[in-house]
Amino acid sequence: MTTYFYTASSLDGFIATEEDSLEWLFKQDFDEEGPMAYPAFVEKIGALIMGANTYEWLLENGGEWTYEQPTWVLTHRELGTPEGSDVRFSQDAGLAHEQAVGAAQGQGVWIVGGGGLAGEYARAGLLDEVWVQFAPVTLGSGKPLLPVAVDLELVDVARNRHFVCTRYRVVKPGTIGQGSK
Ligand SMILES: NC(=O)c1ccc[n+]([C@@H]2O[C@H](COP(=O)([O-])OP(=O)(O)OC[C@H]3O[C@@H](n4cnc5c(N)ncnc54)[C@H](OP(=O)(O)O)[C@@H]3O)[C@@H](O)[C@H]2O)c1
Repeated sequence: MTTYFYTASSLDGFIATEEDSLEWLFKQDFDEEGPMAYPAFVEKIGALIMGANTYEWLLENGGEWTYEQPTWVLTHRELGTPEGSDVRFSQDAGLAHEQAVGAAQGQGVWIVGGGGLAGEYARAGLLDEVWVQFAPVTLGSGKPLLPVAVDLELVDVARNRHFVCTRYRVVKPGTIGQGSK
């Protein structure tokens, strides 16, 4: 079972502006059937975990809830759920991961965002892979990609139209040099 952080980022390491805008991202060109694209990625995924701001962004901007996989939202607040969704709320990132792994039934768990939450999982040794599509834009400030110190091993890199797509393995103690899965 693999836990992924799959996200797009500005070249200077932000996944959204301070105001949670993704306008800079959606104006870029990306081939949905090209290297490291979302449709093939999400087929590996059996459960999702996300922070409250990512969840609220999806509710406000994402249209209908399209995820069939069970989703855990980390929050201290009471938030609504879209019709037909399988969304659970948690204040315990470790427990949410344990439950998501169980629900995923051998498929992957996707940490959708934000970077702080992905970092929390990396620090806890629960994050296995980081996939980042870098857009040709700098934002100067915003919501950080991965605001923790973590060693990564580059497993794959490809161009997808405007993006440099990268895939890294999170280096955990005792795993250096073991190569990709
Ligand atoms: N570029 C991309 O591909 C991409 C991908 C994903 C997300 N995004 C965007 O990036 C932004 C991410 O926002 P963000 O950096 O603020 O991160 P976030 O993780 O989405 O939201 C942070 C909030 O989640 C809650 N939270 C996080 N960890 C928690 C924990 N361990 N326990 C309890 N609650 C927890 C807290 O909210 P409360 O305390 O208020 O409940 C916290 O303030 C969003 O705008 C999202 O749309 C972009």
